[in-house]
Amino acid sequence: MADLKTLREEILAKTAAAPDEAALEAIRVAALGKKGSISHLLAGLGKMAPEERKTHGAAINALKDEVTEALAARRAVLKELALERRLESESQDVTLPVALHGIEAGRIHPVSQVMDEISLIFAALGFAVAEGPDIESDDYNFTKLNFPPDHPARDMHDTFFFNPGLDGRRKLLRTHTSPVQVRTMLAQKPPVRVICPGRVYRCDSDQTHSPMFHQVEGLVIDRSAHLGHLRWILEEFCRAFFEVRDLKMRFRPSFFPFTEPSMEVDIQCSREGGEIRFGEGEDWLEILGCGMVHPNVLKNCGLDPEIYQGFAWGLGVDRIAMLKYGMPDLRAFFDADIRWLNHYGFRPLDIPWLTSGLS
Ligand code: DAH
Repeated sequence: MADLKTLREEILAKTAAAPDEAALEAIRVAALGKKGSISHLLAGLGKMAPEERKTHGAAINALKDEVTEALAARRAVLKELALERRLESESQDVTLPVALHGIEAGRIHPVSQVMDEISLIFAALGFAVAEGPDIESDDYNFTKLNFPPDHPARDMHDTFFFNPGLDGRRKLLRTHTSPVQVRTMLAQKPPVRVICPGRVYRCDSDQTHSPMFHQVEGLVIDRSAHLGHLRWILEEFCRAFFEVRDLKMRFRPSFFPFTEPSMEVDIQCSREGGEIRFGEGEDWLEILGCGMVHPNVLKNCGLDPEIYQGFAWGLGVDRIAMLKYGMPDLRAFFDADIRWLNHYGFRPLDIPWLTSGLS
């Protein structure tokens, strides 16, 4: 019995001092496990005389219960302590300045934003988006668009040519998005109603020209599309894009090999105080080229000009982005200067939407 008392004190002292749940578990196994000290005593009861067994048995079982309870109590205390420690280490100082997560700190480039705005407006007018490659054949970029070989209009495009391939032909970086018109007409039967946004390349660089820039082409082909439709579409577009109720437009005769007649479009603006405003004033600003698709282009793309007709336009995206958001120098668009992007860029969740406003 004296042994039992020492054993009890020893186990209870260890239990009370156990620093964590793993240590506590080791104490439990040493006392109550299969080969534990208390289990060992219980196993010895069988060899005792019945009288002895009665008193010893009761004492050992009482010790077993007491140790079980002490272990459970200590376990509860340790759990509580562990939780407290965790809460302490995970504490938050809500008075610290907000750390911007990468996605909120990033900015959408104005060209991407304006491309989205343009696509949204034309999507609402029933246009699909068509795309083509940046590296084009001479045939699609020029010949099928009714630029005869050696025609001076080719020179106006300051083309970047690649070295001739095995077939002797030179590929080029497309100088405009108009070859996507060709690809679209070759791939799909009218009615066609598409816009073609993308990058274009010309060997030119100054405050308003960059060797790579962006255009959006528009193409409508069916049996009866005419200039009245073109005019209405462009007016709707400009009103929505520049977010003005009324906007006067002016169509001036021009020349493009792939349209006949060809026109350039100016929109009304005021330049008072060095600031450009749309929908007011007496000044005019050129924003795009357009016209009725030339019968030769229709023929080159497998369409019968006696049956089909249509119109097209080409719009400089960078230019109208500069006008709308007041950015003075085109070259800054492509400098990847983080300060410029922070100033002129858009937040990732400023997604343009017609009902809530484009900008
Ligand atoms: N492709 C022309 C350019 O880059 C722009 C253009 C003018 C496109 C008239 C058209 C159009 O589709 O009809 O200068």
